[in-house]
Amino acid sequence: MKATAMAPSNIAFIKYWGKVDEGLRLPANGSLSVNLSGLTTKTTVEFSERYQKDEVLINNKIDSKKTERVIKHLDLIRKKAGIKKKAKVVSVNNFPMAAGLASSASGFAALTLAGSKAAGLNLPEKELSILARIGSGSACRSIPPGFVEWMEGGDETSFAKTIFPANYWDIAIITVIVSTGEKTTGSTLGMELAKTSPFFKTRLSLIKQKLEKIKKIIKEKKFCEFGKLVEEEALELHAIMLTSKPSLIYWTPKTLEIMRFTHMMRKEKLEVYFTIDAGPHIYLICPNKDKEKVIDKLKSIKEIEIIVNEPANGAKLIQDHLF
Ligand code: DP6
Repeated sequence: MKATAMAPSNIAFIKYWGKVDEGLRLPANGSLSVNLSGLTTKTTVEFSERYQKDEVLINNKIDSKKTERVIKHLDLIRKKAGIKKKAKVVSVNNFPMAAGLASSASGFAALTLAGSKAAGLNLPEKELSILARIGSGSACRSIPPGFVEWMEGGDETSFAKTIFPANYWDIAIITVIVSTGEKTTGSTLGMELAKTSPFFKTRLSLIKQKLEKIKKIIKEKKFCEFGKLVEEEALELHAIMLTSKPSLIYWTPKTLEIMRFTHMMRKEKLEVYFTIDAGPHIYLICPNKDKEKVIDKLKSIKEIEIIVNEPANGAKLIQDHLF
C-alpha cells in the first residue's frame, strides 16, 4: 500500500535540549512550540514485495546517513504493523535543504504518518506523536495542530498535544536564513553535550515554572511578555550550548547582526522578538498585523532570505503521491 503525508516544521518557544533516554528520545524537559505554515515536508511511502531493499530518496538525493535513520524508523513501523515488506520512501521539503534549516521535525512527522498508513496502521494522534518522537524528538510536536506542548515522561506518556488551535493567536513567525553554507553540529550530537554545561542543572530546575508561565501568557495573549520570555529562553539555550564541553557556537556574525537589529526595531516601537535553534538562523516573532513592517525593515539587511510563516495545523494525509 502507498500513502503520502505532509507535515509542518515547528519552532519551539520553550526548547527541547537534552535527553534522559537517547534511544527512545525521552526529553530532559517538556517543551512548547507552534507549527510553521511555510516550512513543510511531503513524504510518500510504499511497502511492497517488489522492493528487494529499502529505497530512500530525500530531495532527489541518496544520503547514506539519512537513509540509515529512515530505515531504523521503517523497522519500527514494520514491527508495529507485523509486516516484513521493504519500502520505497520519497521525501521533499518545500524549503532549501542547503540552507541548513532543521528538517528532522517535519521529515519524521511526515514519515511517521505516511509510513504507518502505508503499513496498514491507523494510529491515533497520540500514538503517531510517540512514534514520531522516536524518529526525532521535535517531530512529535509536528503531529498535532497549532500551539503544542510535548510532555516529559516515559515512552507511553511523553508525546505532544495541542494546547491552542492554530488560529488562536494571530502571530507571524519570520524565518531569517543567514546560512553560510557551513555544516553545523546536529541537534542529536549537540544535545548529548548539554549535561557538560555547569548551567544545565539550573536550567532544568527552573523549566517547569517557565512552561507554566508561557502557557498562561499565551492563554492571555500578552504578546510583549510572551516575546520577552521566548527571547530569554533562546538565549538560555545558547548559554548551555556555549558552555558545553566542547563548546557549541551556532551563531555567525550575521546571527548577531539580526539579534541586534531586532532590539533596534523594538526601540522603534515594533513588537518583534527572536528565537534561535541549533543553527545560525533566526526566527522573528511579531503580531501578524506588524509583519509587513518587519519584512520591510529587513530589506536593509544584506545576504539573508526570509520565509514568512503563520501558526499551522499538524501532519495530514494527502492524495498527491510523489511516485
Ligand atoms: C534546538 O528534535 O532535532 O531545535 O531528537 O536528536 O532528533 P533529536 O533532536 P531534534 O532537536 C531539536 C532541538 C532544538 C530545540 C527544539 O526544537 O525544541
